[in-house]
Amino acid sequence: MSAVRKPSVLDVLSGQRCETPPVWLMRQAGRYLPEYRELRASVKSFLDLCFTPRLAAEVTLQPIRRFGFDAAILFSDILVVPHALGQTVTFTAGEGPVLEPKIDASTVARLKTPLDRTALAPVYETIERVRKELPPHVTLLGFCGAPWTVATYMVAGRGTPDQAPARLLAYRDPATFRRLIDILVEASSDYLVAQFAAGVDAVQVFDTWAGVLGGEEFDRWCIEPMRRIVANVRRQVPGAKIIGFPRGAGTSLARYVEGVEVDAVGLDWMIDRAFARERIQSRRPVQGNLDPLVLLAGGAALDRAIDEVLEAFAAKPFIFNLGHGILPETPIAHVERMLARVRR
Ligand code: CP3
Repeated sequence: MSAVRKPSVLDVLSGQRCETPPVWLMRQAGRYLPEYRELRASVKSFLDLCFTPRLAAEVTLQPIRRFGFDAAILFSDILVVPHALGQTVTFTAGEGPVLEPKIDASTVARLKTPLDRTALAPVYETIERVRKELPPHVTLLGFCGAPWTVATYMVAGRGTPDQAPARLLAYRDPATFRRLIDILVEASSDYLVAQFAAGVDAVQVFDTWAGVLGGEEFDRWCIEPMRRIVANVRRQVPGAKIIGFPRGAGTSLARYVEGVEVDAVGLDWMIDRAFARERIQSRRPVQGNLDPLVLLAGGAALDRAIDEVLEAFAAKPFIFNLGHGILPETPIAHVERMLARVRR
C-alpha cells in the first residue's frame, strides 16, 4: 500500500495509509470548548441546538477552526432518531437524556414508522451548510447510533450503568425487542442514506453499548442489524464509506469484522492492542484508541500513551482518535499537545 502525502480520513477509509495519520476526536464539538458553551447557553434546549441548522453547522465547524482536525462530525445526537419516531426525548442538565414513553410491547406499536424524512430535515440542512464552508480536504462525517445502543435508551427511558432494561426485554419478550430492532434498522438506514444525499463523505455508526452483550446476543443484536444497515445503505449509495464502532466488544470484534463489511473499525481504549493489530487491522483500517482519560490527564502520561497508539497502529491504514468521546473537563492545551505529537 502506498503512502499518501496529505492526511485524509477518506483515503484511510479507502484502504490507504497516510504518512501522518489523519486525526479527529469523537465528541470533538462539545462542552470542553468555551465557544460551544457560549453558544449552548444561548438556546433553550440541546435538541433546539441540534435542530437549528445555522447553529448546529457553526458548532460542527468550531473544532475544525480551532484545531484543524482532518474530519468534521455533524453536530447532532443519536437520540434524534427515537425523537423522529415519536418518542419524546428531553435532555436535562446533569441528568442526561429522558425518553417517554418507555418502549414495551404496547408502546412499540405506537412508534411512527417508517421514519418521517421531514422530521429530520434540519439535520440534512446542517450537512448542506457545513459542506459549503468546509475546506475540501476535510472529511465530513455523518453518524447514527446502532440499533442496539439506541434501543437501550428507548427501553430504559434513560441511560443506565449496564443497560439491564433492554437486555431483560430481549430475554423476556424477544418478539417485541426484535420488532424494535427492525424498526431501528430501517430508520437508521434511511437516515444515513439521507445524510449521504445531503453531502456527508462517510458515516460512523456508534454502538456504544455493544460491550454489555455476550456471545450470541452480540451476534443477534449487534452484528446482524449492522450487517443489514450496511447492505441497505450501499444498495442506495453504492460504495458508501462506513465506520463501525462497537465499543467494548473485546474479542467479539473478530466476529464483527468477519460479519460486517464496514470500511473501518473504531477501537475503544480497552482492547488488547496486539489482538487488534493481528485480528482486526489485518483485515480493515482501524480508528482509535487513545484513552479519553489520558487526554484529560495530560503530561508525560499523555505523550507515552500517544506513542503507544502510534507504535501499535500507524504502520498500516489508521485514523488517530480517542477510544470514546472527549470528556468535558479536558483542557484545550492537552488537545493541542496531542495534535502536535501526532503530526510531528
Ligand atoms: O462527536 C461530535 O462532536 C458530534 C456530536 C455528538 C453528540 N452526541 C453531541 C452531544 C455525537 C456523535 C453524539 C453521540 C451519542 N449521543 C452517543 C454515542 C457515542 C457516545 O458518546 O457514547 C450516545 C450514547 C449519545 C446519547 C447522549 N447524548 C447522552 C447519553 C447524552 C448525555 C450525556 C452527556 O454526555 O452529556 C447526550 C448529550 C450530548 N450529545 C451532548 C453533546 C455535545 C451534551 C449535551 C449538552 O451540551 O448540553
